[in-house]
Amino acid sequence: RPRVFSGMQPTGSSLHLGNYLGALRQWAAMQDEYDTFYCVVDLHAITAGHDPDALRERSRVTAAQYIAGGIDPERSTLFVQSHVPEHAQLAWILGCITGFGEASRMTQFKDRAGREGTEGTTVGLFTYPILQAADILLYDTDMVPVGEDQRQHVELTRNLGGRFNARFGETFVLPKPYIPEETAKILDLQDPGAKMSKSMGGSGLIDLLDDPKVVEKRIKSAVTDSGREIVVDPENKPGVTNLVIILSAVTGRAVAQIEHDFEGRGYGDLKKEVASAVLDTVVPFQKRVRELLDDPAELDALLARGASKARDVAAPTLRRAYERVGFLVPA
Ligand code: TYM
Repeated sequence: RPRVFSGMQPTGSSLHLGNYLGALRQWAAMQDEYDTFYCVVDLHAITAGHDPDALRERSRVTAAQYIAGGIDPERSTLFVQSHVPEHAQLAWILGCITGFGEASRMTQFKDRAGREGTEGTTVGLFTYPILQAADILLYDTDMVPVGEDQRQHVELTRNLGGRFNARFGETFVLPKPYIPEETAKILDLQDPGAKMSKSMGGSGLIDLLDDPKVVEKRIKSAVTDSGREIVVDPENKPGVTNLVIILSAVTGRAVAQIEHDFEGRGYGDLKKEVASAVLDTVVPFQKRVRELLDDPAELDALLARGASKARDVAAPTLRRAYERVGFLVPA
C-alpha cells in the first residue's frame, strides 16, 4: 500500500477547524487505502519560544485529538516526533545539502522574519522546513495530506530528496502533496481575507476544544459579504464561500446542493445551520478527547507502541542515508 505521512504542531490553541477540515479529516479517510503515519511534531513546536509543561500537555492533547478525529492507532502509526531520534539526525544531513538562499525563500519563515525581524526569530525556525523534509523522507512517503500553506514545504522536500538521490544514489522516495481543493484553506471567520491560523487566534478561529457556546457564537458572528445570495464565489464572497465550504465538509452535502437548498434564504439561516452542523462534529469530538485524557497512562503506552513501529521504518532509512553519504559504518 502507498505510504502516507503527515503531522501537526502541538502549539498555540489546540487544533482548530482549519486543521481538522484541511488535514485531520483527510488523514482519517486515508487509513483504509494507505499505510498511514501520523506524527505529533513536537520538535517543530519549540522553534518560536514555548513553555515546557504546556508543551508536554499539548502533545498529549494533540495525540488525543488525532484519535478523536478518527485516527485509529491500530490501523495507523501514531507517534510523537521526539520519540524517534532519526528525525533530527536526518535533518542534519539534509541541512547540509540545502542552499542558504533556498531556505531563505520559504514563505513561512519570510513572513515571520518580516514581522519580527531576523533578530526576533530563531535558527530553528529558519531550518524548520528541513526538519519537515526529514519527517517525510524517513518513511518513504508517497503522499502528504496537508493544507495549501504546506505546499511549499512538500516541494522543498521533493527537491532535497531528489538532490540527495542525484548526488549519492537512489535513497529516498519523492513525495507528492495531497491537497483537496475545497478545504485547502479554511478562512478566518472575522477576516475572510486570511486563513484560519493558530498564530492569528482571535474570535475568527474555531478551536475544536472551545466551549460549544463559544463555537456557536463565533460562527453566528462570522463576517459575511455584501449582497444576499448564498453562492460559492471565493473572489467576491469569501466569507459566505467559507461558510458554505465548512457546511459541505462537515455534513458531506455537495456545495451545489447547499446553494440550491439556500436559494431565497438569508445569511442568518446559513449561519444557524453551519453552527449546528459544526457542533454536531465538535461535541462528540470533545467528549472523546476528555475520555482519552482521563487515562494518560494508556495514551502514553499507545504512543510508545507507535514510536516503536515508526522507528522500525525510520531507522533503516537513516542507515541507508548514512552509508550513502559516506559515514563510516560502526563496527
Ligand atoms: P500546522 O500544525 O500549522 O497545521 C497542521 C495542518 O493543518 C493545515 N491547516 C489548514 N488547512 C486548511 N485551512 C487552514 N486554515 C489551515 N491551517 C492549517 C496545515 O496545512 C497542516 O496540514 N509544518 C507543518 C507540520 C509538519 C508537517 C510535517 C506536515 C511538520 N512536519 C510533515 C506534514 C508533513 C505545520 O506547521 O502544520
